[in-house]
Amino acid sequence: MLSAELARAGVPGVVALDIDADVLARAKSRHAGLSIDWVQADLFAPAPGGNRLFDAVVSVASLHHFDARAGLIRFSELMRPGGVVAVVGLAANDWRDLPLEVLPHCVRFGAKMMGRYWEHSAPTVWPPPLTYRQVKQLAGTVLPGVRYRRHFFSRYSLVWSRPA
Ligand SMILES: C[S@@+](CC[C@H](N)C(=O)[O-])C[C@H]1O[C@@H](n2cnc3c(N)ncnc32)[C@H](O)[C@@H]1O
Repeated sequence: MLSAELARAGVPGVVALDIDADVLARAKSRHAGLSIDWVQADLFAPAPGGNRLFDAVVSVASLHHFDARAGLIRFSELMRPGGVVAVVGLAANDWRDLPLEVLPHCVRFGAKMMGRYWEHSAPTVWPPPLTYRQVKQLAGTVLPGVRYRRHFFSRYSLVWSRPA
């Protein structure tokens, strides 16, 4: 879905990488006609296209599927100097986060009651292994100067530019 959005927005040379063959097959048929290079591979395996460096590495709801430190290091390795890593990830709540979770919980509950709740069909990992605070600290260590933001619905975002 993310790759399709990027391709529709006119981003050239989109490479959609996922380790799961079924996910890729569904995505490919759903978004047929878009200019996307669908690659079934492990993120930690040698990069598609050899030592190719990318202008941007973007990831939605995936970082909690593997070791986050290794994942962030891998993202940064795949990027050309001056390129951008952008991540929307999922984090776990600790007790200090609970007040902020009340509203999203009510919205989710309401959506389910009204039959408006949608769930994707990709593999899931739940709960996320790291809390918001752990993600923030880890990202600041691995990607110095990263912009971290906390969002509702267990989400956070990270944006980091590799120094030119
Ligand atoms: C919740 S989905 C992300 C959905 C995707 N961002 C989108 O926009 O459609 C997480 C995906 O991470 C993939 N994944 C998990 N470990 C991986 C790895 N080591 N290398 C590549 N993909 C991996 C899973 O197969 C799963 O499809």
